[in-house]
Amino acid sequence: MSERRTIAVTVNGTRHEKDVPVRLTLADFLRGELRLTGTHLGCEHGVCGACTVLVDGRSARACLMLAVQADGHEIMTVEGIAPGPDRLHPLQEAFRDNHGLQCGFCTPGMLTTLIEFLRDNPDPTEREVRVAISGNLCRCTGYQGIVKAALDAAQRMKAART
Ligand code: FES
Ligand code: FES
Repeated sequence: MSERRTIAVTVNGTRHEKDVPVRLTLADFLRGELRLTGTHLGCEHGVCGACTVLVDGRSARACLMLAVQADGHEIMTVEGIAPGPDRLHPLQEAFRDNHGLQCGFCTPGMLTTLIEFLRDNPDPTEREVRVAISGNLCRCTGYQGIVKAALDAAQRMKAART
């Protein structure tokens, strides 16, 4: 029988205490235990970026992290980005308005990656955006709409701050 541990994690502002197998990945914990299926699984070995979440504000591959490693930490998933049920985050609005997604499979990882990036670099160049998302694979868009969306989001967020 696999070993288990009790962990306490805060996900999108809500604290959860759960008994989990020590080998359970954070991605499977979020999707299977908490039913937060916005975190997508593509490659499951750290290449595609679809599973990217923020751990204490820093992007991390949820497929490469164990749930027990999240014990005591704060996680933000794509479900936690919007400020309310009827309002989108400016980054989400920019994705919608700039055709930053097609099938949407890569989108949760793109958004979480860009949330961290735009927080650290609020006025990026196009090249900096391209480097920032270079660890996230998109098989649909050709990246043009995503880059445009990120640059547009930076302007929207700047306007919101002034
Ligand atoms: S599913 Fe985690 S990086 Fe691809
Ligand atoms: S929108 Fe389909 S993988 Fe990016």
